[in-house]
Amino acid sequence: MLLATKLRGLEAPKPAASSQEPAASSQKCYFSAVTKDAARRRIAVVPGDGIGKEVIAQALQVIRATGAPVDFTEFDWSADRYLRDGTTIPADGFAMLTRDYDAVFVGALGDPRVPSNVHAKDILLGMRFKMDLYANVRPVKCLDDSLCPLKNRKASEIDFVVIRENTEGPYVDVGGVFKQGTPDEVAVQEDVNTRKGVERVIRYAFEYARRHGRKKVLMTDKANVMTYAHGLWQRVFKEVAAEYADIGAQHMYVDALCMHMVRDPGQFDVIVTNNMFGDIITDLAAALQGGLGMAASGNIHPERTSMFEPVHGSAPPFAGKNIANPIGAILTAAMMLDHLGRASEAKKINDAVLEAVRQKKTTQDIGGSLGTRECGEWIQQQVTGNR
Ligand SMILES: NC(=O)c1ccc[n+]([C@@H]2O[C@H](COP(=O)([O-])OP(=O)(O)OC[C@H]3O[C@@H](n4cnc5c(N)ncnc54)[C@H](O)[C@@H]3O)[C@@H](O)[C@H]2O)c1
Repeated sequence: MLLATKLRGLEAPKPAASSQEPAASSQKCYFSAVTKDAARRRIAVVPGDGIGKEVIAQALQVIRATGAPVDFTEFDWSADRYLRDGTTIPADGFAMLTRDYDAVFVGALGDPRVPSNVHAKDILLGMRFKMDLYANVRPVKCLDDSLCPLKNRKASEIDFVVIRENTEGPYVDVGGVFKQGTPDEVAVQEDVNTRKGVERVIRYAFEYARRHGRKKVLMTDKANVMTYAHGLWQRVFKEVAAEYADIGAQHMYVDALCMHMVRDPGQFDVIVTNNMFGDIITDLAAALQGGLGMAASGNIHPERTSMFEPVHGSAPPFAGKNIANPIGAILTAAMMLDHLGRASEAKKINDAVLEAVRQKKTTQDIGGSLGTRECGEWIQQQVTGNR
């Protein structure tokens, strides 16, 4: 009932290919460079909140600079929109994204004016769950020795990928509290792991390793404590690994993994894990890359519209100050183009970012002196120069 009230009268905009007009609604959606060329890819853009808006603006300019045949449709789903009219995501939102777009590009969601974070939950977890984007792919690559926080380690030793299960675990929100507010209070949160969910993400990890010339998949869990849930992960991992004789298979408990990520990250290639451990270890992994501002991710369903977002959040204290690092979003744009079959444009972006890092044409968090816009523009010019 509450949901119906919130969404009343709000329609998803029409697909980009069928209209040249801006959407006639308060959503301020617009269509750019609409075309009937079937080879062109349609990207739905949700800049979101805080620094999300700033970094996405730069990433879009960099994509444009590659000349890739893509059209963007921007949606204002965000805290501003929620506070204005109660909308988190319109009624047909997820179906429309899957039906009408080839990819979704998201900035970040989260705003202190919405303490419940309900809009972020509806939009982000909604996309992951309702669009069934079961594999969250997070590359961890340190681009320059100057960014490596580990003593006596080189950037070249930090180059692995974390594949996080994205639709299950404690995130499904099953649980409850009993006798709340009393000394007898009980809180229960279920960790949901299905055979189907575990198997498909483990298989995705092996397929990813094969496709990307990686040699080894490591599964991490806490099966010594979570005996039932992670026991399932252990059994399925062994079964699936047996089908991939060309790829090494290894297991490590998550506590040991954290230690090894700091002591000897060079041993990792592809890591596959559950939703919560993937969430946690990729913040540690981001620190190995130079910080959250450098980390990219894709939320993938191999046969459906997938969603791409930098790993970082909306960083409210940074918002509007032109200091957020746009590189995580720009590397995410490269991942998205690669996913859409535009490998050469993706490579141009990755090369330009590498050059920016080497020449310190970056924001202050990674040792440069540029603002968000100036860093984005430098990378954009580098891409344009290499076209
Ligand atoms: N995917 C998402 O949209 C997402 C992810 C994480 C957090 N959030 C939300 O974002 C809000 C803020 O969360 P948080 O502060 O825990 O995490 P955050 O990632 O927004 O920021 C944490 C810290 O990381 C650094 N940082 C992050 N991104 C950076 C960038 N691009 N450039 C330079 N430094 C950067 C800053 O020091 C920042 O204070 C919350 O509402 C949270 O729920 C959203």
